[in-house]
Amino acid sequence: MTDLAATHLFSPLTLRGVTLPNRVVVSPMQMYESEDGFANDWHLAHLGRFAMARAGLVFTEVLCVEPRGRSTYRDCGIWKDEHIAPLRRIAELLRRCGTVPGAQIGHCGPKAARQKPWDGLRPLGSEDAAKGEPPWRPIASTDEPSADGYHVPEALSLQEIARVVDAFGQGARRCAAAGFDVLDIHAAHGYLIHTFLSPVSNKRADAYGGDRKGRMRFALEIAEAIRVHWPADKPILFRLSCIDRYEAGWEMADTLALAAELRARGIDAIDCSSGGIRGANSLAAFDRIGGPPPGYQVPFAAEIRAKLGMATMAVGLITDPHHAESILAEGQADLIAIAREALYDPNWPLHAAIAHQGKQDSQRQFAYWPPNYGWWLQYREKQQARREAARR
Ligand SMILES: Cc1cc2nc3c(=O)[nH]c(=O)nc-3n(C[C@H](O)[C@H](O)[C@H](O)COP(=O)(O)O)c2cc1C
Repeated sequence: MTDLAATHLFSPLTLRGVTLPNRVVVSPMQMYESEDGFANDWHLAHLGRFAMARAGLVFTEVLCVEPRGRSTYRDCGIWKDEHIAPLRRIAELLRRCGTVPGAQIGHCGPKAARQKPWDGLRPLGSEDAAKGEPPWRPIASTDEPSADGYHVPEALSLQEIARVVDAFGQGARRCAAAGFDVLDIHAAHGYLIHTFLSPVSNKRADAYGGDRKGRMRFALEIAEAIRVHWPADKPILFRLSCIDRYEAGWEMADTLALAAELRARGIDAIDCSSGGIRGANSLAAFDRIGGPPPGYQVPFAAEIRAKLGMATMAVGLITDPHHAESILAEGQADLIAIAREALYDPNWPLHAAIAHQGKQDSQRQFAYWPPNYGWWLQYREKQQARREAARR
């Protein structure tokens, strides 16, 4: 029987003025259930499940800072003040469960105007238009599509760049008004910010392109705009595709340089993802060679932490609670994010607690669970134990 307080996974972490009760984070996951960008009861129930399971930090899916930044008509948004109220209800539920409420904001850039994954993930076309969902022209750093057959995006003008930077700042302001305590900026997976960072996609000849300094400018201006509108006592994470997995693409040395600049602008941690600059999704590069191995992005989190001493979040096929613990114990990351595993087992944090405590002490195995569930399960356990004893 391990005391949970002795584990890394169930130890608190303080970032600025916010203390997470444990290191389990539910990663942002788009649900494609919104109308006009509004969160609704689907999102409340979806995110509430993870909070009732005592995840330390639960992120909303990406909240798009502009309507044209939506990947589908059903994406959630944060482009108008009216979006705040239903999000506030979610933040309040998470907090009531003891979970820190987090929001992710972003802009899908050239991956906008698509079908839902289970409808094919293709760019919207005439058939979709006939069903009332006409395509719109996405934006990017450069007017090149991010995958074969995808829409040709419009390269952002300098004037439009300033507008989008402001939209990120306003999105952060609305997330603060909704009561979220942690913000994650989506700068990965071939979305808008990533198209500026990567030399694969950024072919601009102005101050926002060219060398690494130019390509980083847009991301850094966004970080600055967000820090103006986001409370000084609340932390911000930046989600990066740490490497492009593409020839002559964005590499780890670029990520280290960017992370240092982001830290200087008040970003507290790097959320370490990868891929997505070309192809339908961030895992497309693995399609040729089979799926990625467990913890495939952990080395990026470890390298940033080791070389910069900056906090990091590891994500990507972390499913085993003992693996999660070892990543933290070996100093490879500060936070463990789970996405698909949370869909498979929304009670993952509670099951991870049992996995670490061991089942030997059946009278205490539900001690970490919310008493609303744990008391009854403990009672059932006691009765089973008595029944066993009587049978012997
Ligand atoms: C249904 C689903 C929706 C996702 N939506 C987002 C999103 O809104 N923002 C984001 O940054 N990543 C998104 N991702 C990526 C996940 O956050 C995560 O990085 C990825 O799934 C790898 O973690 P996993 O192996 O634990 O699933 C999504 C993943 C899934 C499965």
